[in-house]
Amino acid sequence: MFPVHRPRRLRGSETLRRMLRETILTVDDLIYPMFVTFGSGVKKPISSMPGSFQESVDEIVKSTREVFSLGIPAIVLFGIPEEKDDIGSGAYDPHGVVQEAVKAIKDSTPELVVITDVCMCEYTSHGHCGIVQDGDVHNDATVELLQKEAVSHAKAGADMVAPSDMMDGRVMAIREALDDEGFSGIPIMSYAAKYASSFYGPFREAAESTPRFGDRRSYQMDPANRREALKEVALDVEEGADIVMVKPALAYLDVIAEVKASFDLPVAAYNVSGEYSLVKAAARFGWVDHDGVMMEMLTSIKRAGADIILTYFAPEAARFLNG
Ligand code: PBG
Repeated sequence: MFPVHRPRRLRGSETLRRMLRETILTVDDLIYPMFVTFGSGVKKPISSMPGSFQESVDEIVKSTREVFSLGIPAIVLFGIPEEKDDIGSGAYDPHGVVQEAVKAIKDSTPELVVITDVCMCEYTSHGHCGIVQDGDVHNDATVELLQKEAVSHAKAGADMVAPSDMMDGRVMAIREALDDEGFSGIPIMSYAAKYASSFYGPFREAAESTPRFGDRRSYQMDPANRREALKEVALDVEEGADIVMVKPALAYLDVIAEVKASFDLPVAAYNVSGEYSLVKAAARFGWVDHDGVMMEMLTSIKRAGADIILTYFAPEAARFLNG
């Protein structure tokens, strides 16, 4: 108690603060989400996410070299196919945009960890994350397509797959499909607790995946639920997930902390598009200091318990950390 205890004693100099810092964010913690599209020579800025692009395979290969040279260990790839249909054929096409990008990136930067997003929403004409029957996404029919999609990514050379659809049972189904095809060494990072969030707004422009009707609340989680997140994570762990993810990150730091405390495997958090674009917009108005807010957000996600962070800030944060 004061005057015996004066916590300010330990904050007196930068060196002391550095020595006593509890949470250290490093470039090794970061995964950079990227968008690959069809064509060549395409590098199209995403207006709702300043600094992010839709890139054709030839361009994304160049960008990933730069990403790896910044020390960022991994990317996660999202595809924007030339054509969409109601069964999302582009998702499991052996020559789809993601499959071609994976091959080209692994050829040019073999050490970069290439993770693929496994979901149907970018490939379906209706924009939902699976097969629609009677106005809703049919769980088990969708899971079969996710198995094909994951296997096609592994065949292309993906180092890890990340299902983001929120269908029940898909982690086990994907694990079995990968194992059957000889990919028992490919880890699954599951979007285990993924909420039906308004923070995905800018991403849906980036991935051109806005649902044509309805919303995703029959498969993504209700933002008010925490106990249910632990159940979702427990199921994915039982089904064989290697890394579990909480998404979004900032409005769900309590969920990240609880998942970290309850499970014995790496926890990822997705610092989503809305969290990113809010900072970009406010910084543009001069209302917040961009780098200060960026680093504080990323540090808070790690402090909450995330071992790895998926973030569109990855290159900027890497440059900041590399000084
Ligand atoms: C696809 C998917 C989404 C995001 C990642 N994978 C969108 C959604 O579920 O609507 C969101 C990423 C972001 O907002 O940064 N299912």
